[in-house]
Amino acid sequence: MKAGESLDVGALGEDVPLLEGIRTTRAIRRLHPDPVPRELIRKVCEAGTFAPSGGNRQPWHFVAVTDPEGRRWVAERYRAAFRDYIAPAVEAARDPAYPEAKRRMQRAAIHLAEHLHEAPVHLFVAGWTRRGRPQLQALMPAVQNVLLACRAVGLGASLTSVHLAFPEEIDRWLGLPEGCPTCALIPIGWPRGRYGRPPRRSVDACLHWERYAPKPEEG
Ligand SMILES: Cc1cc2nc3c(=O)[nH]c(=O)nc-3n(C[C@H](O)[C@H](O)[C@H](O)COP(=O)(O)O)c2cc1C
Repeated sequence: MKAGESLDVGALGEDVPLLEGIRTTRAIRRLHPDPVPRELIRKVCEAGTFAPSGGNRQPWHFVAVTDPEGRRWVAERYRAAFRDYIAPAVEAARDPAYPEAKRRMQRAAIHLAEHLHEAPVHLFVAGWTRRGRPQLQALMPAVQNVLLACRAVGLGASLTSVHLAFPEEIDRWLGLPEGCPTCALIPIGWPRGRYGRPPRRSVDACLHWERYAPKPEEG
């Protein structure tokens, strides 16, 4: 789906079976720069609002940054923080024995960092603090719902948190009130890649009955 095509936002994504959608939601970091209709961003954020939360507090706020100047501002800082974050992994990847799947993920993450300003929507999810500490876990169910909704409607998206390297600066810039820190940045756009099953270990490697028992491959 591309800009210019007429979209039936109401119908879009409503036909994706839930479990298939879950199994085929993966990080899509290569995005077209074409704009995404606001109604569609509203729709994926609405999915976020159906997440569970303690006491049904619904602590989330979604801030969608679409202005090119703003996205450049975010991307410059993301890139600088990302460089420090990824440096040890880039070094490790020089080893020919470095797993290919990790190498691919690293390449995609570097691509996102280098092209973040082109992602048409920078969706920040912000929430609440308790005893002065950000409660990231309170927002992650909403974040996951947004990612799943993006999968359903055909948008590319990924969960990022590199901006937490400069938390006060970004919160101030977003105009967030005291006690409502940002916890996630979801770059969203029309995907260059396809959705599909991400690499995951088998459920049998991590499912235990009654009590934890080491699995053979864990030694
Ligand atoms: C809490 C959290 C923070 C993350 N932060 C980043 C990030 O800042 N940048 C990034 O490229 N990937 C980040 N990731 C990783 C991706 O979003 C993704 O989950 C991972 O690469 C697996 O991708 P897959 O689902 O396609 O296998 C983060 C994941 C989690 C759970």
